Amino acid sequence: MKILFLNGPNLNLLGQREPQVYGKTTLADIEAMVRKQATVRGATIDFRQTNLEGELVSWVQGAKGAFDVIVLNAAAYTHTSVALRDAVAATGVPTIEIHLSNIHAREEFRHKSLIAGVCFGQIAGFGAKSYLLGLEAAFNIIEFKK
Ligand code: DQA
Repeated sequence: MKILFLNGPNLNLLGQREPQVYGKTTLADIEAMVRKQATVRGATIDFRQTNLEGELVSWVQGAKGAFDVIVLNAAAYTHTSVALRDAVAATGVPTIEIHLSNIHAREEFRHKSLIAGVCFGQIAGFGAKSYLLGLEAAFNIIEFKK
């Protein structure tokens, strides 16, 4: 059971970045939390962050045959990247869209997710816990496929 967690731009700044919106937990803390829970459940995770759109696209492409599920916080690229949407559609690896904040309750430009239509489902608004819920959803998909 292999699950790939991908994080987009500015998520390396979690903890210091707009804590009133994103909380005070750092990305390293989130990774540790997810890794611990995944280990308990017998899954292997890979956890990555990049500020580059093309790198995210390449990582999504590379997931085919290597991972069972992708859990993706594409950050701002959620709202802008047709390339990322096309990569998710092309790999066919079930992908769960996650966000710390509830994008639907924020500025209007965040209401639209270009990747939502090609993802298995979306989790938004639970802060750092969105990652654990993403992990749970990944297990559900893997069970469902058995
Ligand atoms: C985010 C929401 C996006 O709108 C924003 O650009 C981010 C973080 C979230 O996790 O809440 O960078 O994906």
